[in-house]
Amino acid sequence: MHTAACIFDLDGVIVDTARYHFLAWKRLTDQLGIHFTEEDNERLKGVSRMASLEIILEIGNRKPDKNLKLEYATLKNNWYIEYISRMTPAEILPGCIKFIKELKNADIRVAIGSASKNTPMILDRVSINGLFDAVVDGNIISKAKPNPEVFIKAAEMIGINPKHCVVFEDAVAGVQAALNAGMMCIGVGSPKVLTKAHFVVPGLNEMNLTKLLTLEKISGYE
Ligand code: BG6
Ligand code: MG
Repeated sequence: MHTAACIFDLDGVIVDTARYHFLAWKRLTDQLGIHFTEEDNERLKGVSRMASLEIILEIGNRKPDKNLKLEYATLKNNWYIEYISRMTPAEILPGCIKFIKELKNADIRVAIGSASKNTPMILDRVSINGLFDAVVDGNIISKAKPNPEVFIKAAEMIGINPKHCVVFEDAVAGVQAALNAGMMCIGVGSPKVLTKAHFVVPGLNEMNLTKLLTLEKISGYE
């Protein structure tokens, strides 16, 4: 068998935190008088905190100085932490744990590759911090997706060649990061959005080891 590791994005793949990001950004945009919709929020998936703020400021046509930007990002993050600190294991998306345990039983390494600096807190709140062989997050990396740094680093930490890693991603920038890392990528979400992924599944509840091996064969990554 070829796949030696699976690297999972966190937000949108393991847990649905996009709604908490939205609520927190919405509090900020309401305060600033910027019209911000759920559709706009789609553009922020997989994008770092500061880059997300830049997109929001562009939507609102605002140009605050650096200090004010930091203040906005801190405000948003404090509200976001308020939401995620109340998360429970019930918020783990369906099928995740079962699939990850199946991979582990088959000696396939599992890692997290996330842009979020709040990754440790989320993993802790949903009680899965001991599940992964490596966790690479926004606290460790300096280059945001679509730069492949996050996935290359994860492969390095688990000691697996990138071409033997499969990435699970829900964001366009994340799919591109996986491809830039030379990894096979299975999109989690809509094939209309994740057009560059090798395959797309609606959720990890649609994944199992047999399917992974089949997809790997079709993709030519085998
Ligand atoms: C990504 C999310 O996983 O993390 C983005 O998809 C978010 O929406 C980014 O902006 C950074 O998250 P945080 O928790 O460091 O602000
Ligand atoms: Mg994501």
